[in-house]
Amino acid sequence: MASTIIFPNAAHVIQLYLQHKEIVIIADARTNGFCLATACKYIPALQDARIITIPAGEENKNLLSAEWIWMQMQSLHVHKDYVIVNLGGGTVTDIGGFCASTFMRGIPFINIPSTLLAMNDAAFGGKTGINFMDTKNTIGTFANAEYVFIHPDFLNTLSPKQIANGAAESIKHALIHDKKLWELYKNATDFTHFTNLENIQQSIAIKNYFVQLDPLDVNERQSLNFGHSIGHAIESISLNSNNILLHGEAILLGMLAELQLSETIYNCPAIVRKDAEALKNRLYPTVKFTFSKSEILEKLLFDKKNTDTINFSLLKNIAAPMVKTKVSKEQVLQALSIFDA
Ligand code: GLY
Repeated sequence: MASTIIFPNAAHVIQLYLQHKEIVIIADARTNGFCLATACKYIPALQDARIITIPAGEENKNLLSAEWIWMQMQSLHVHKDYVIVNLGGGTVTDIGGFCASTFMRGIPFINIPSTLLAMNDAAFGGKTGINFMDTKNTIGTFANAEYVFIHPDFLNTLSPKQIANGAAESIKHALIHDKKLWELYKNATDFTHFTNLENIQQSIAIKNYFVQLDPLDVNERQSLNFGHSIGHAIESISLNSNNILLHGEAILLGMLAELQLSETIYNCPAIVRKDAEALKNRLYPTVKFTFSKSEILEKLLFDKKNTDTINFSLLKNIAAPMVKTKVSKEQVLQALSIFDA
């Protein structure tokens, strides 16, 4: 069953659910320090919970951290009557959900996303997972959090770079589904719009629309992958370079290249890409990759286990996504030339 998303005025629903339960919180070194007090303020039942802490960062969303979490769960004698509470960004909600959904074949869990990126994406929709052999989210499960608690207070301690990271998914949601929201975002001169509760709720509603149409990601849900084929390749290569890009930064670059592909393949109006490029230049002026186009192509081919063509989710226009589009290597290289200086 899909997660129930709880907004600030309904925190008591989670409090009621948790108040007589044994709770284990999974947090990272940052959220354990900064976010736990905020979470306890709204959900006092969390005060006496045990805590499993993992190292922060996407590079730690791996088998080693998963094994560490399972070992801690074992030593805390976690069983089916427990609830796991994942408090953190997408790394924590992904790996925490994965460990909860596999330990003893499934312990219920709640997600409390502390970053804009996780609020907009990772914390709901049922995908859990870890990275494996340099490839993102290769191992995982479909398992829904019982509840997801969204509170903009958690954003107060985020750096501007982390806000920008999360805003890229809001931009994607507007592009794939909501002309009015795109009109608002495309003219943004700062990130104010992206962090207000109403716009976060809209972003969540857009992702939920696709998740509910296609929970197992075999068709319409793949619209949410817009920007992610090229974006994931850029992100993965950057993790081993001296110019590490955050997920949202890489996805933003991926969206620009995939808008160019959308133009070539579906005649998506050029103005959409131009507006997106202008937005990138205003809000993300320093974001760029420093490796070659052929490295990106190689990574794409390796990840997708494709030989001559690669499957993309593109746009025919704003709010008109097209999934399962076959794209040739030549078309990818041509789209990447938008980044040539
Ligand atoms: N992040 C894309 C999805 O959940 O399908």
